[in-house]
Amino acid sequence: MEVNHIEELKRVMVSIVRLLPVLAALVVATAPGARSWSKEGHILTCRIAQTLLDDGAAEVVHNLLPDYADGDLSSLCVWPDQIRHWYRFRWTSPLHFIDTPDSACTFDYSRDCHDLNGAEDMCVAGAVRNFTSQLMHYHHGSSDRRYNLTEALLFLSHFMGDIHQPMHVGFSDDKGGNSIQVRWFRHKSNLHHVWDREIILTALADYYDKNLDLFLGDLQKNLTKGIWSDDISSWRTCDNLLSCSTKYATESIDLACKWGYNGVTQGETLADEYFESRMPVVMKRIAQGGVSPNNTIQNDAKKGYI
Ligand SMILES: *[C@@H]1O[C@H](CO)[C@@H](O)[C@H](O)[C@H]1NC(C)=O
Ligand SMILES: *[C@@H]1O[C@H](CO)[C@@H](O)[C@H](O)[C@H]1NC(C)=O
Ligand SMILES: *[C@@H]1O[C@H](CO)[C@@H](O)[C@H](O)[C@H]1NC(C)=O
Ligand SMILES: [Zn+2]
Repeated sequence: MEVNHIEELKRVMVSIVRLLPVLAALVVATAPGARSWSKEGHILTCRIAQTLLDDGAAEVVHNLLPDYADGDLSSLCVWPDQIRHWYRFRWTSPLHFIDTPDSACTFDYSRDCHDLNGAEDMCVAGAVRNFTSQLMHYHHGSSDRRYNLTEALLFLSHFMGDIHQPMHVGFSDDKGGNSIQVRWFRHKSNLHHVWDREIILTALADYYDKNLDLFLGDLQKNLTKGIWSDDISSWRTCDNLLSCSTKYATESIDLACKWGYNGVTQGETLADEYFESRMPVVMKRIAQGGVSPNNTIQNDAKKGYI
């Protein structure tokens, strides 16, 4: 009896200890104030990107993805948000966004792309450039051992989402809208969150019956034969893959000023009017993130693709 109890207690203790890392991860994942394009936004962008890969690029992605991803890039493109607070990946934290000077509404790479300590290139535009460059040098069978190209792929596909979220390129003072408290219909939120999640989740519930596949189908229809079919070729063009991230970030801060910040005051309630006028902007940025050429980089040997 006595022994049984002790054994039982031991088993309970062991399972609690085993659960601790899971609990810790959950706490981190739900920490408030995190800046991340919603899971849904990233998944949509990554699915669009993956469907546009040609055979060579699709094979490279397949080779780099871990087996458990089952060939589905979108299942892992939120990974960089999950690990950004882990000690080993602390350095990636500043790579999800860019702070620009208050009210300037412009992006200047050398002025703005750094972390809080001034370390150069440590912003989302620098990260897109960095991981694009690493993947451009991918060669079958002889990958550059300095870099983990699986990580490079997951970072690049994630940051391509972030850099297209207008409020990820926002003003320093309000932390990209994080400190502008608003109500979204009835619940509390902030302006950054409205662009990260609220607009997408409201659209998903109101128009797509909470079915992400229907949402994706609608985006793809608009790309192939709908409102964006004339634009897609220009979205897929960028002269120099290593500097296109400046173009994406410039577009984002411009949209953040025209549509994100414009007219919004601290404590305001945002509802139908804001939702309906901003939703098309959010949809377009999700699509542009998926379509843009950094997702389908030709490598320097013009043999393999990413
Ligand atoms: C580029 O990636 C390497 C690791 O692969 C990392 O050490 C470096 O900090 C990264 N820099 C940027 C700007 O992303
Ligand atoms: C590359 O990174 C992934 C994710 O962090 C890791 O699981 C994998 O073991 C790494 N591969 C190598 C060869 O280090
Ligand atoms: C697709 O285009 C239609 C027609 O303009 C629009 O009503 C709809 O919201 C668009 N859907 C997405 C996901 O962009
Ligand atoms: Zn992110």
